[in-house]
Amino acid sequence: MLSRTQIKDIVFSIPILKKYYTKKRVANGSLIPLNEIHTVLDVAPNVYLEKPISLNLKVGLVKDGHEYEGFVKARAYYPKYERFLRNNNIAFAYYDIFAHDWQVKARDFDVVIWHTESDPSTQDIATNKIYVLEKLMGKKCLPSFDEIWSYEDKINAHYLYKHYNLPEIPTFVTHSKRDAIAYVNKVKFPIISKLATGSSSFGVVKLKDKNAAVRLINESFSFKGAKTYFPFQRQKNYLLFQEFIEDATFDLRIMVVGDKLFGYYRYPNAGDFKASGAGNYERKEIPSQALDLAFKVREKFQSVFLATDLLFSQKTQKYYIIESSIFIGIDTSAQLKLNNVPGYYRRISEGNYTFNKGKFWVQELALNELLKGK
Ligand SMILES: Nc1ncnc2c1ncn2[C@@H]1O[C@H](COP(=O)(O)OP(=O)(O)O)[C@@H](O)[C@H]1O
Ligand SMILES: [Mg+2]
Repeated sequence: MLSRTQIKDIVFSIPILKKYYTKKRVANGSLIPLNEIHTVLDVAPNVYLEKPISLNLKVGLVKDGHEYEGFVKARAYYPKYERFLRNNNIAFAYYDIFAHDWQVKARDFDVVIWHTESDPSTQDIATNKIYVLEKLMGKKCLPSFDEIWSYEDKINAHYLYKHYNLPEIPTFVTHSKRDAIAYVNKVKFPIISKLATGSSSFGVVKLKDKNAAVRLINESFSFKGAKTYFPFQRQKNYLLFQEFIEDATFDLRIMVVGDKLFGYYRYPNAGDFKASGAGNYERKEIPSQALDLAFKVREKFQSVFLATDLLFSQKTQKYYIIESSIFIGIDTSAQLKLNNVPGYYRRISEGNYTFNKGKFWVQELALNELLKGK
């Protein structure tokens, strides 16, 4: 199956197709003319820092989602970041971090804000550049080096869950072929196999028996590695296997930023087990047990914003972590709804949350956390 990015590449290479596609995206609201962006943003009130920021601070803002001239993607983060910066009188300039002179340009900034796209190429570029910006030049970065290190990297995230004793879906990660073979010789099938980096379930497969698993192990440890849905990257010398949680019926995504929590449920299509990318959402109450877990994961990850996806197993009556993301697709300023009323849960203490009404661009709340007290 072609990924969205591959389809986009083809469409973008043919001008008439690009024009048609742009028109279609504007009609369905996923692309917005730049001069109309305020009408989209204004559905949620501004977010203001409690105390004004130090006067000489300057922010470098990297633009995302702006590859259609004159338009911006509804999901782009930078317009929300920009609104927050303007409303709080924080000096900023757009920052082209992809160009050759990014290190020289960085000297102008104290803070760099960048919604990194979720593909492996951008992750690689971002991890290395943020290392230089943060560790060598002393810039404050969103994402920080620690945040980018585990973002869209299911292997690194697994190391963190393990280290902090967080209840992830039972996961086996190895870089040893012998070890992988020994695992599939004793495991109960089916199992789940995942790419280290992937989204919308594209890199997730169910392996029905040992033959299928051994085939993948052989490919991964071959000279070329196994093909992935990214034409530029292969699965090489690693396996990430998980127990298949067969009695899970939904994904529960919980966002945590400061003491505010938001979230919603996602469901797989009939006959499938993968809720990610299926597009079936429901916004309703979230049990405090799940809120507690998502809050704890954000604390351990030390990120300003973290969305943690959970599965619930009927059999064990427990939540398990699927994955955590510092960036997610944000389509609305109503990320949580109770009886159709937008709002958030405020954490009072463990097990104790109150619902408060309101609409928010969670990207603004993230900047508020990042810059408060600066
Ligand atoms: N071990 C598992 N057992 C059962 N279902 C799973 C398991 N892991 C993932 N899923 C389902 O597959 C979907 C995709 O997996 P996920 O790891 O979140 O990949 P992606 O990064 O593509 O979203 C999840 O949203 C969940 O519904
Ligand atoms: Mg997912």
